[in-house]
Amino acid sequence: MNAPIKELSRNSPSVTTPPRLAEDGSPYPMPSNSEGRARRPRRAADMQQATQDTIEKLFSPLTLGTITLPNRIVRSATYEGMGNSDGIPEMSLARLYSNLAAGGTGTIVTGFVHISQEGRAMQPRQCGIDTPEKQAAWHAIVQHVKQQHPETCLFMQLAHTGRQTRKRITQNKVYGASRRACSYFREKSHVLQTPHIESIIQQFGNAAKRAKDAGFDGVQLHAAHGYLIHQFLSPWTNDREDQWGKDRNLFLERTIQAVKNTCGHNYPILVKLSATEDRVPGIRQEDTIETVRRLEPLRIDAVEISYGTMEYALNIIRGACPVDLVLNVNPMFNKIPALIRGLWKRLRADTYRKRFLPFSHAYNAASAAAIKQACSLPVFSVGGIRDINDIRQCIEQYNLDGISLCRPLICEPDFPNKLKQDPDIRSACTNCNFCTIYCDDNRSLRCYHKKKGN
Ligand SMILES: Cc1cc2nc3c(=O)[nH]c(=O)nc-3n(C[C@H](O)[C@H](O)[C@H](O)COP(=O)(O)O)c2cc1C
Ligand code: SF4
Repeated sequence: MNAPIKELSRNSPSVTTPPRLAEDGSPYPMPSNSEGRARRPRRAADMQQATQDTIEKLFSPLTLGTITLPNRIVRSATYEGMGNSDGIPEMSLARLYSNLAAGGTGTIVTGFVHISQEGRAMQPRQCGIDTPEKQAAWHAIVQHVKQQHPETCLFMQLAHTGRQTRKRITQNKVYGASRRACSYFREKSHVLQTPHIESIIQQFGNAAKRAKDAGFDGVQLHAAHGYLIHQFLSPWTNDREDQWGKDRNLFLERTIQAVKNTCGHNYPILVKLSATEDRVPGIRQEDTIETVRRLEPLRIDAVEISYGTMEYALNIIRGACPVDLVLNVNPMFNKIPALIRGLWKRLRADTYRKRFLPFSHAYNAASAAAIKQACSLPVFSVGGIRDINDIRQCIEQYNLDGISLCRPLICEPDFPNKLKQDPDIRSACTNCNFCTIYCDDNRSLRCYHKKKGN
């Protein structure tokens, strides 16, 4: 429970975050003399041109290996809560993805999909891809979206939760890279042995093949946010003395090879990584750079840079910490007697809130930039990208290949189209995180922010 936030400086990016542009969009301080006043219109014109250039680049195609993305906007993986109790995806997903495609998002990554019953998440309506029945249901969804939006690229995010789940959900023992339990899920973690590890790697390969046969353009391996692949990458959770601990990248590399074996060498693979994390010793930026360098010869297609683990979940997804909602909805809290919850709220809520990092714009972009500088793979950044300044910072200043958005697209599925029409708009998302907290409930994904006119 001791948040080692102060240690973050050790992990801080080597590329410094530049000063934010002025509120009016101008990158320059306001001139104070007559010469300055005369120069203002030219600067405004330069600024307009720069904005236009950013928009053009954002909406230009991007070729990754064998696939061309129609633009550089990715819907980052977002749990949708649209699976039935067996994990079979429902057709409401087709409508959601079609709406996103119609709204201008070029590439859609599904919410995290479990590759096996053992790897299921705590969220009650998570979808899976571990049976032919689920594959058939995904196939119908992909067909529906592709009929209307053949140009849109669809990726399935594949995940095994490892220690970040609950026995009650998986009906199985909870396994992890090591014995170290997750302070959030508080389940005993059973150490995976090599034959079991090999079978999970094969399950990733099988799941990818099912996604391919269901019509997905590619898969994204969820190697971020503390799930099983992350658990192998991180020294916090991988203190093993065998081959899987001596080389913490081995599990990810072998998983990529398994996907290539089942899907062929040209099937597109993205990898989502947490550049750094809160725990010490955890993954540092140098480790992620090393990981990405190791991925280069494996010919994956791109990496998406995120942050953190579920131990400090709101550091992955920054913004408000709606404590009342957490107490009512989160299964780690809502079974506690109301009196104790009330006391906890009075005595501990402020300390709890302070564990989390505040929201800031494009909060993973500097890490993504450092990784981009150090490797030849295409790099995307996710987290806190809300307006043209953030986008310019990512794709012009940091030379990233594209941007990933989650909450802005929950809030406004047509945010990309709106941005194209009026680059000065900002996302209407308030980072209230109601959608985040409600993932633990039995509901489908939606935005809870009351927009004007609603
Ligand atoms: C409701 C919700 C569900 C999410 N589900 C996933 C998920 O399934 N897989 C994943 O990798 N990240 C997931 N995330 C994290 C987002 O992909 C993203 O990394 C994070 O929200 C920061 O981006 P943003 O500022 O654009 O929202 C989720 C976030 C939210 C708010
Ligand atoms: S509920 Fe809506 S406004 Fe609040 S964080 Fe989610 S998307 Fe943003």
